[in-house]
Amino acid sequence: MREQVDLRSAVNAVSDVVQNRPRPLREFDQIHMKTGDMVFQTEIVADWADGKRLAFIGDGDAISVCVAYLQKRGVLNFGPTKIMVFDFDERTVQAVKRFADRERIEHLDAELYNCLEAFPQAPKYDCFYTNPPWGASNNGESVNLFAQRGIEAVGFEGEGMIVIADDDEIAWPKEVLASVQGFSRDRGFYVSRMQRKLHAYHLDDNPDLKSCNLFVSSLPGNSANAAPSEPASRERLINFYGKSKEPKVRYVRERKRLDYGKAHEDEYKLDLLEGFE
Ligand SMILES: C[S@@+](CC[C@H](N)C(=O)[O-])C[C@H]1O[C@@H](n2cnc3c(N)ncnc32)[C@H](O)[C@@H]1O
Repeated sequence: MREQVDLRSAVNAVSDVVQNRPRPLREFDQIHMKTGDMVFQTEIVADWADGKRLAFIGDGDAISVCVAYLQKRGVLNFGPTKIMVFDFDERTVQAVKRFADRERIEHLDAELYNCLEAFPQAPKYDCFYTNPPWGASNNGESVNLFAQRGIEAVGFEGEGMIVIADDDEIAWPKEVLASVQGFSRDRGFYVSRMQRKLHAYHLDDNPDLKSCNLFVSSLPGNSANAAPSEPASRERLINFYGKSKEPKVRYVRERKRLDYGKAHEDEYKLDLLEGFE
């Protein structure tokens, strides 16, 4: 039986995760989801992936950590049995690992991986989640590459949740949605559900732009269509992170271990009281 979620406990647990989250690098399209929406998204993901092994293809938002932590704290009495985060940002990977270690969350882990490269593991997940670069300048090709890695992670058989832009007023999100749905269909996945205009972001140049949850499911017997994972071709990388922003970076490295919830020494200086200078 699913218990009613206690909202105060859920918000406070998500707040712990947000404190631990590395700050976003805009040049790689890292733009964090707003905290209230993270709370609801966490419940949606835990419900959808209940009893399953879940792979995150990129997760700067830290929805993976929220899901695992709310399960661990008993705020949610349902959710995935295993959560693995694949991200090219070592700060994110280490933040997930440290959090899992500190809170003794055994079913949460992370691995450094750039999705331009072939998927590094044999398929062993039941479902995938991705909130990728939204592909505004390449007709969704960046989304398609992240979705492809998710499809490879589940061995072409399973479920996916793709979180991408959704807006009635602008043209590109509609083009991207159509492109991603076509790409998924070509790989034996159909759109099984769509939750529209659900999440807001800390996006200063377009604070009203929302994203949807696009759910895809494999057609029966689709694992027979599984193709080996290959590195992405150069043509697919044009405008990957936005106009003229091709990927040049393999990994974002963590320079020093930071406590993200506390002010850094280089952010402030102290003017001492008289007699203490
Ligand atoms: C591109 S952001 C999209 C916005 C999302 N709301 C966020 O900030 O997480 C999603 C995640 O993808 C990761 N990412 C970006 N480029 C990547 C790549 N080439 N390979 C793997 N992960 C990547 C980022 O580090 C980030 O954690």
